[in-house]
Amino acid sequence: MSKEVVLSGIRPTGFLHLGNYFGAMRNYVRMQDEYNCYFFVADWHSLTTHPDTKELRNSVLRVIAENIACGLDPEKVALYVQSDVPEIAELYMYLNMLAYKGELEKTTTFKEKVRLQPENVNAGLLTYPVLMAADILVHRAVKVPVGKDQEQHLEMARNFAERFNHRYGDVFPSPQAFNYGTELVKIMSLDGTGKMSKSENQMATIYLADDEELVRKKIMKAKTDSGPTEANSVKPDYIENLFTLMGLVSTPDVIEKFNTDFNNCNIRYGDFKKQLAEDMVQFLKPIREKSAAIQEDKAYLGKIISTGADKARANAAATLKAVREAMGLNYL
Ligand code: TYM
Repeated sequence: MSKEVVLSGIRPTGFLHLGNYFGAMRNYVRMQDEYNCYFFVADWHSLTTHPDTKELRNSVLRVIAENIACGLDPEKVALYVQSDVPEIAELYMYLNMLAYKGELEKTTTFKEKVRLQPENVNAGLLTYPVLMAADILVHRAVKVPVGKDQEQHLEMARNFAERFNHRYGDVFPSPQAFNYGTELVKIMSLDGTGKMSKSENQMATIYLADDEELVRKKIMKAKTDSGPTEANSVKPDYIENLFTLMGLVSTPDVIEKFNTDFNNCNIRYGDFKKQLAEDMVQFLKPIREKSAAIQEDKAYLGKIISTGADKARANAAATLKAVREAMGLNYL
C-alpha cells in the first residue's frame, strides 16, 4: 500500500522558535519514516507581511538548515521552497474562484493582520488561506502537522477541497491537522501574554539560534508567581507552559520531581527555572551548532533545495494534470 501523504510549511519571517519546534518540526521528524512527506519554506506567504526581500534569502536558507539540524533527512522527505513550485500558484488561482470574500474576511489571522498592519491590507493577505490550501492540495496531502494556530486554515482548506470536488469531480482528499496523540499544541510566550512568535515579543520567545546566556536569561525572567497554596491545584497556564517545555527537554525523573513539588505546594520556581534553563541549553546546543555548520555550506544547501524542488514539482504536476482534466481545461 502506498504511504499517506504529509505536508507542512513554515514561513521564513524570522528565527524559528520552540513553538515552531514543538508545534510542528518535532512531528515532521517523527513522521518522515512512516509517511510520504513534503515539507517546505513558505516564501510566498511571507510576502503578505514582509514585502522587503533583503533578508529573505538568508531566512529561507536558515529555515532549511534548522529543519535538517532538528533531524529532518532530506533524502527521506521532499524539502523545498514554495516559489520553486509554480504549480502551487496555478492551483491557488483555481481555488481563488471557489473562495468567497466574506469567509476570507472572517478568518482570525486576517483580522489580526489587519489590526497589525492597517497600511498594507493586500489581496495576498486576504487570500492567504487559499494559498495555504493550494500548498496542501497540490500534493493531495491528508495529514498536516501544525500547531493550534493553523487549525482554522485547515478547516478552510477542507472546505475549498470539498467545493472543488463537488463542482468538478473527486480530485482531493480531505486534509486534517495532525499532532501525535493529543490536541494541537500552542506554546505560549514566557511572559504569559500570547504565543511564541518569530517576530513579536522576542525576549519572551526562545529561538533555536539563541546562545546559552540568552536562553538562561529568558527562562530566568519567565513569569511565575508565589506558588500554589492548595495541594494538587490546577496549574496556571503560564506555569503549565513551563512544564510543557520541561516535558520537551528534561528527563522523566526531573519532570516528576517538580510536578510532585508543585502538587505538594513546595515548588521553588527559582530552582525549577534553573533546571529548565540548563536542560534547554543542552537541548538547543547541538541544533544550533549543526544549523550553523549547514548554513556555512551553501553548495550543500543548494543541492538540497534543487532536489527538493524536483521531487515536489513532479508530484505537483501530476495533481495539476488531474485538476485540469477534472475542470475540462485540457484542449490539446
Ligand atoms: P508559521 O511559519 O507561523 O509556523 C510554522 C509552524 O509552527 C507552528 N507554530 C506554533 N506551534 C505551537 N506554538 C506556537 N507558539 C507556534 N508558533 C508557530 C505553526 O502552527 C506551524 O505549524 N501558515 C503557516 C505556514 C504554511 C503552512 C502551509 C502550514 C503555509 N502553507 C501549508 C501547513 C500547510 C504559518 O504561518 O506557519
